[in-house]
Amino acid sequence: MGLRKYRKLATISTNIQKAVELLTQGQVIGFPTETVYGLAGNALDTKAVAQIFQVKNRPTFDPLIVHTSSIGRIESYVDSLPHAARKLAQTFMPGPLTLLLPKATVIPDLVTAGLHTVAIRVPKHPQALALLEALPFPLAAPSANPFGYISPTTAQHVQQQLGMAIPYILNGGACEVGIESTIIGFEAQQAVVYRKGGLAIEDIEAVVGSVLVQEHSTSNPKAPGMLKSHYAPRKPFVLIKPQQTINNPETAAYLGFDAFHPQLPQENQLLLSPKRSLTEAAQNLFGYLRALDSLLVSTIYGSLLPEQNIGRAINDRLRRAGA
Ligand code: TXA
Ligand code: MG
Repeated sequence: MGLRKYRKLATISTNIQKAVELLTQGQVIGFPTETVYGLAGNALDTKAVAQIFQVKNRPTFDPLIVHTSSIGRIESYVDSLPHAARKLAQTFMPGPLTLLLPKATVIPDLVTAGLHTVAIRVPKHPQALALLEALPFPLAAPSANPFGYISPTTAQHVQQQLGMAIPYILNGGACEVGIESTIIGFEAQQAVVYRKGGLAIEDIEAVVGSVLVQEHSTSNPKAPGMLKSHYAPRKPFVLIKPQQTINNPETAAYLGFDAFHPQLPQENQLLLSPKRSLTEAAQNLFGYLRALDSLLVSTIYGSLLPEQNIGRAINDRLRRAGA
């Protein structure tokens, strides 16, 4: 069961009509969102959904997020929209928030890996919204990276890794948020964060009160994709304190927040935000990890950022990269 191969690299273009045509034919394409690029197919077509799993080499027990263009449309894909969920949707959608809601029967079991909830979101990206508006069906889309690797934040990242397995990538430029959506579910009215992401927990709590944060575990069936190995570069990634001594500086790279590591040449280092902006750090995170991963070094070192707002999601990804 080999990957479907195209004779040439996926075309990168801003033509939305072309994306509509391919998706309507049941094909799988790359598309931009404000968080990261997605690998999209018709969520109501199990053949297209099966192709997403195949192209990404993702196990089918790991469910996909369904993307649509409005809260109104969400209501046709869920069984109910509880009060707290509606409040969050009205406040933060479109935006980097995914809600876990009881699924309607129209959503195939393959999308949700047999779970009774569907993960659903409205991306805040003009081309993504225009595409979703033009389609009569929602899009199932995981991040457009091979399973276990860093998420893509440009069309070129998608082309480099999946370009031979898909025909087309809708170009929406560099992702504004740069880190995946925050995933929120509900347990007996209580909001639970299953994945820290682009929407800060502090902002969510301002709307629905205190939330539970479900720490990830490799055996947690509630969030099957929250495996420790997620978001990892190919090279070993090691977390250190900012000034901590590195034993093999000549073969090391460093990912810092605002200050270079004193032992390493600067050409082997990247700073996420010299002006200490967490928003800018999130935008740069995955692209910088990719860049350091492609250097001729054997180990990438990195340091955690302030544990607040989107810094919590950035640190979560850095810890996973180091797991
Ligand atoms: O920002 C994002 O969310 C991006 C863009 C493309 O929208 N998408 C994304 O998808 O990050 P993916 O597949 O890489 O991550 C989705 C996560 C996985 O960890 C999956 O296990 C979890 O969402 N998930 C999906 N449906 C779920 C469900 N019904 N219950 C629990 N977890 C679910
Ligand atoms: Mg992913």
